[in-house]
Amino acid sequence: MKIVIITGGSRGLGASTAIHCAKRGMGVVVTYNSNPAKADEVVSEITAQGGKAVALKLDVGDIGAFPEFRDAVKVQLQRVWGRQTFHYLVNNAGYGLYAPITDVTEDQFDGLLNVHLKGPFFLTQILLPLMEDGGHIVNMTSATSRVATAGVAPYASFKGGLEVLTRYMAKEFGERRIRANSIAPGAIRTELGGGLNDEFEAMLAGKTALGRVGEPEEIGGVIASLLSEESRWINAQNIEVAGGYVI
Ligand SMILES: NC(=O)c1ccc[n+]([C@@H]2O[C@H](COP(=O)([O-])OP(=O)(O)OC[C@H]3O[C@@H](n4cnc5c(N)ncnc54)[C@H](OP(=O)(O)O)[C@@H]3O)[C@@H](O)[C@H]2O)c1
Repeated sequence: MKIVIITGGSRGLGASTAIHCAKRGMGVVVTYNSNPAKADEVVSEITAQGGKAVALKLDVGDIGAFPEFRDAVKVQLQRVWGRQTFHYLVNNAGYGLYAPITDVTEDQFDGLLNVHLKGPFFLTQILLPLMEDGGHIVNMTSATSRVATAGVAPYASFKGGLEVLTRYMAKEFGERRIRANSIAPGAIRTELGGGLNDEFEAMLAGKTALGRVGEPEEIGGVIASLLSEESRWINAQNIEVAGGYVI
């Protein structure tokens, strides 16, 4: 059985990814930051369908706590699956901030930097010794790195950095046959940045060739498929999954 670790797996795109991975027979470790009850719901849904999953607490912005998280992962891998390694890492956790460049504070900037770029960098670094050769890393980027959208400059810049980091991961980890790709969603209906109101949704749908915003399962299913054997030759790519956003 392949094991996948999904950060921010308690809600939105991460939760959908967890459920799709479990449907394909993977064992799932989801992490949550502030919402253990939602993470438990994801674990219960997977367990009810005959899969195996556990939830662990992780603040992706708290790099100093990563050794403790790595140790907790080791304990759960042994306890639930009787093994010491895992196969796939999905760096998905994140949050949004809407503010023009003129208003962004240094604390806001650093918070976004830590969660969207520094966190995935050092989390991957510390978990890599536990990852099987032939594994796969998926980083969650964003179409906002390609299409400048006023109000999300730091977020989009760090997602752009994560897109570049993905290619470097593919380059440096290729000798262990570990792939690295990123998925760049367009506008998807989640609670990111406070969620969508009718006006915002209509604006985003108007910028999308297929005329609507996406649903979380339209991302989760793609990631589960990307992790699977059928996608084994896809490497070092940033794949936009956005219904044709601003084309
Ligand atoms: N939705 C979109 O339109 C869209 C578009 C492009 C990219 N993305 C990216 O997709 C990823 C998932 O977003 P989403 O739309 O699913 O958002 P969401 O519904 O708000 O879910 C965010 C998830 O990330 C977790 N999280 C937030 N801050 C965290 C932190 N500091 N440390 C660890 N976990 C943290 C949350 O955990 P808790 O619930 O426990 O707090 C939750 O599981 C993000 O990286 C986002 O930037 C989303």
